[in-house]
Amino acid sequence: MMRFPKYDIVSIDDLALREIERIFELADRFSGALERSERLAVADGLIMATLFYEPSTRTRLSFESAMHRLGGSVISAPDMRSSSAAKGETLADTVRVVSSYADLIVLRHPHDGAARVASEYAPCPVINAGDGSREHPTQTLCDLYILRKKKGHLRGLTVALCGDLKYGRTVHSLIYALARFGANIVAAPTAGMDVPDYVLERVRADSNYSFSTVSMEELKSLAGRLDALYLTPSAPHQMALFTSEMPIEKLPAPAPKALDAFYVTRLQSERLANKGAAPDEYVRFDARALRTSRTHEAVVMHPLPRTTELAYELDTDPRAIYFEQAAAGVPVRMALIAWMLEHAARAERPAMPALPTVRLRAEPAPRCPNANCISRFEAGYLVPRFRLGRAVAGNLLMLRCDYCDRELAVEFVGHARTRRYYRFDESLVSYVHEWINESSLAVFETVKQAEESGYEPYRRGPQREIMNAEQVAAAVESLAGQAVADLPDLSRAMLVGVISRGALLALRLRDLIEARTGVHLPCAAVDVYAGADAVRPLDGAEDVAVDDRVIVLVDDVINSGWTVQRAMAMLWQKGRPAEMKLAVLIDRGHRAVPIRPNYVGKNIPTARSERVQVRLDVPDGAPRTRSRDRITVYSMVEPMKQPEDAS
Ligand code: NCD
Repeated sequence: MMRFPKYDIVSIDDLALREIERIFELADRFSGALERSERLAVADGLIMATLFYEPSTRTRLSFESAMHRLGGSVISAPDMRSSSAAKGETLADTVRVVSSYADLIVLRHPHDGAARVASEYAPCPVINAGDGSREHPTQTLCDLYILRKKKGHLRGLTVALCGDLKYGRTVHSLIYALARFGANIVAAPTAGMDVPDYVLERVRADSNYSFSTVSMEELKSLAGRLDALYLTPSAPHQMALFTSEMPIEKLPAPAPKALDAFYVTRLQSERLANKGAAPDEYVRFDARALRTSRTHEAVVMHPLPRTTELAYELDTDPRAIYFEQAAAGVPVRMALIAWMLEHAARAERPAMPALPTVRLRAEPAPRCPNANCISRFEAGYLVPRFRLGRAVAGNLLMLRCDYCDRELAVEFVGHARTRRYYRFDESLVSYVHEWINESSLAVFETVKQAEESGYEPYRRGPQREIMNAEQVAAAVESLAGQAVADLPDLSRAMLVGVISRGALLALRLRDLIEARTGVHLPCAAVDVYAGADAVRPLDGAEDVAVDDRVIVLVDDVINSGWTVQRAMAMLWQKGRPAEMKLAVLIDRGHRAVPIRPNYVGKNIPTARSERVQVRLDVPDGAPRTRSRDRITVYSMVEPMKQPEDAS
């Protein structure tokens, strides 16, 4: 019996162009076989498992139909939310187990990068049937198959992408493929639903490709004179519009160009973080769009399901080809399965830039900035993994999440062996590469995080003590006094300390407030680097719901204000406090964001290059001496140009 080689289709880029062409040939052959009702035994004895953590009609049923038509069998979990996943089983465990029941897994999942994770843990091959807003490679195969059938070729076609280009995964896979086939893309996103930067970066870096973005309004007004879109050809594919090899500046104005296809998409409302983010106006595509001289040859495509963006009046127009795209699901997916059986073992992976993954030595490890990344949801076993980013940004080190492709901009880097940290700049690039090679790169979002991880600035000037234990005690007393005088109704108040020193301070404040008023305030801690459970009860507090409470956020020092701002945003995400107050032990007088503390222990104006370091005794039961409380200031010498001196 034929077996599937371990060849995963996570991205459309897992298939080389020649392989896609071959799959289309097979699809033609299977279309014929289906018409003739031939019985096929291509997948005889093989079992496909369809694991769907999100709703699906076309993708799952056409995959299953394809497998049946090939003589194979199917086991299906069409609603994984009712499976063991609901009991908390990880994706890794699920696919490992299912691999022993099936020869091939087709997975749909709401989180970006889920298919990559599944492919790494499943011994059998995994096909991505849609992972969050990232990719949907087999839909692209259907789209391209039908588009090429209608137009005869793909190279040089001009395709307008309309609607939700931000969360539409079918659009992202389609962009990667159209770029490689040398088609021209015109993006016409609904306001706020632009093609994400990480997608643009990827086609730019991998295919030297870029495309124009116009608003839907502009697209409508341009429909009659589309040549305006091509005045600045920036990639070889757009040269197809020109007839000579002359330098771009000397070229004659490009010949007027017609649109070959509109690819309309549904607003991916399930991926909007909150309903407030929904655009006021979404595309409504109807027959009028096809009436201009430059659009009357265009076909109208849609991955389906449609909601209101595509008028039903179009359905009877021969240029509406969306039902053909859906119908292609069976022969194209048959072709993909057959191709995997016959050819995948010999397949040539397209040449992707093989940058190594970066092993980071930071505690805590940096998180992927994408809130929907699988690494955030399966954190129990997935270690965040990055490669060097594609984007270049002067004084930021760009890292790219290996699961979801999103870029993380890093401002501070550290060297794990010498435990020094540096503000990143271009002069450090070669060192950072070296540290990556020796696995000693650490990255930090803030200086505070670096210092809390035990790193010291690369070079520091002399230190001076600015507050001793008694002065710290007086400042905390002063904070407590200000809060008691200001808060009209203490029974509604809650103290929330920013981990770690803000949390220690919150507990001290609680005790002092209780000593003054007899009111025992609930206390919580907020961890600005945590994902889930960012707000936790402190010292036995029972109810830490923030709704309708007066929250007093407590931190030791405001440096840039960034930490406090993030803590506020996290609390705001948890609920709707009646009010938020900010208490800080030390205000340095300058900050990067407009935040003003309500209660200040002590104002200590310092130069920007100076760092304030707060050391607080950890409570160890009564009597609390606090004898080790101490606040010092030192200056940081920047930029730090000679890391070899650091050891
Ligand atoms: C798409 C999907 O699930 O991404 N549907 C499909 O597979 N044809 C598009 C969508 O849901 O809008």
